[in-house]
Amino acid sequence: MTQEIFAKRRKELFEKLNGGMAVLFAAPVATRNNDVHYEFRSSSDFYYLTGFREEEAAAIFLPNDEKPYRLFVMPKNPEREMWEGRRTGVEKAKSLYQADETYAIEQFSEIFSTLLKKNGRLYYTLGDFPGQDEMILNLLKNYSPNPRAGDKIFESLSSLAPLVSPMRKKKSIEEIELMRKNCQNSGLAHQKAMEITQPGMYEYQIEAEIEKWFRFGGADDLAYASIVAGGENATILHYKTNRDQLKDGDLLLIDAGGEMDLYASDITRTFPVNGRFTEAQKKIYSIVLDAQKAAILAVKPGVRFLDVHNAATEVLVKGLMGLGLLKGDLKEIMSDRSKYAKFYPHNTSHWLGMDVHDCGAYFDENKNSITLEEGNVLTIEPGIYIPSDQNDVPKEYWGIGIRIEDDILVTANGHENLTANCPKEIAEIEAIVGSRKT
Ligand code: GLY
Ligand code: MN
Ligand code: MN
Repeated sequence: MTQEIFAKRRKELFEKLNGGMAVLFAAPVATRNNDVHYEFRSSSDFYYLTGFREEEAAAIFLPNDEKPYRLFVMPKNPEREMWEGRRTGVEKAKSLYQADETYAIEQFSEIFSTLLKKNGRLYYTLGDFPGQDEMILNLLKNYSPNPRAGDKIFESLSSLAPLVSPMRKKKSIEEIELMRKNCQNSGLAHQKAMEITQPGMYEYQIEAEIEKWFRFGGADDLAYASIVAGGENATILHYKTNRDQLKDGDLLLIDAGGEMDLYASDITRTFPVNGRFTEAQKKIYSIVLDAQKAAILAVKPGVRFLDVHNAATEVLVKGLMGLGLLKGDLKEIMSDRSKYAKFYPHNTSHWLGMDVHDCGAYFDENKNSITLEEGNVLTIEPGIYIPSDQNDVPKEYWGIGIRIEDDILVTANGHENLTANCPKEIAEIEAIVGSRKT
């Protein structure tokens, strides 16, 4: 993304701030163990508005000031840089990131307190990073304005998130291009994982294969921890140990996506380890696939988010009734989640963007389901999960867990499936699985 794009976003936000001051931090560095850190990833809002990806950074926006955009960064330090990597530094950051002023991050407290004197209405999102929250709250507690010298008293603290999240929910052309590229790359990686799968391999080997292709195609990270779940492990929704051996006759569920330039993809595919669905697997798979297609077909501007879920759920419930796994009246079952939650315990969709479960409201102020708008991106991911040892379920279905997930862009007249290149038809899958020997 170019700096013009970040500048345009700031301009839009500045109008919403209505003269108030906003503060954002890059995410803190997190310890993994001893002196090893987790790979650093900046916070989504901070990156969305600055385009700056280094650690230990902050931004202050004060629209009506002579310096509306102040950026705080790690200062140059040749010795530290030799060990830890290059830093842009204070001087270069100013022109590269189009800031009105840049400072060393160590100066943040001092500058923030000085600016509070000019404006006591603060926008800051509490709850993301406890260390930074504590610092901001301490600075506010210790703020002692001198009104006789013209200092503003502290007036209000509001969350910044409600101003930024509607912006992030409507994707620009540039964001859509990036998400399309990332989604297609992740779709291809899923296919590559299918190609090498065969009985006897281990979940972590398939995990290694799919993650290789994410990175190979340009993703710089995972959007979330990959779920590679063989057999009954697929009935654990957030399974992530990925250590078991894949058995002949079992299905393999992979829920994984790469992250490119801080934008997520989120794809799930389920396929037979040996390349052939059993009749029972085929029956459940077809229900999930039909449900997913019905929900995708429903996506267009003006449709309620809930209607997309209902489109999928109706097909799932009808299908499960057809197999005798659910009994009763369709409308009654549909209207009472507890009646089908045993097989379908999660929702059909979530917003997708910089965060895999992206920001953005799901209900309007009257508590009605929100309507889809052009530029929204959502997942469609129905599933059926049947753990073993359920006496009221025929044994042939025990241990089956199936989810199919695509990433869908709402377009002016309908939708675009950003992950359409990822195989999901039964015949395609059966032709691909196991077709490449490693
Ligand atoms: N991979 C997380 C989800 O599908 O929501
Ligand atoms: Mn998802
Ligand atoms: Mn997923």
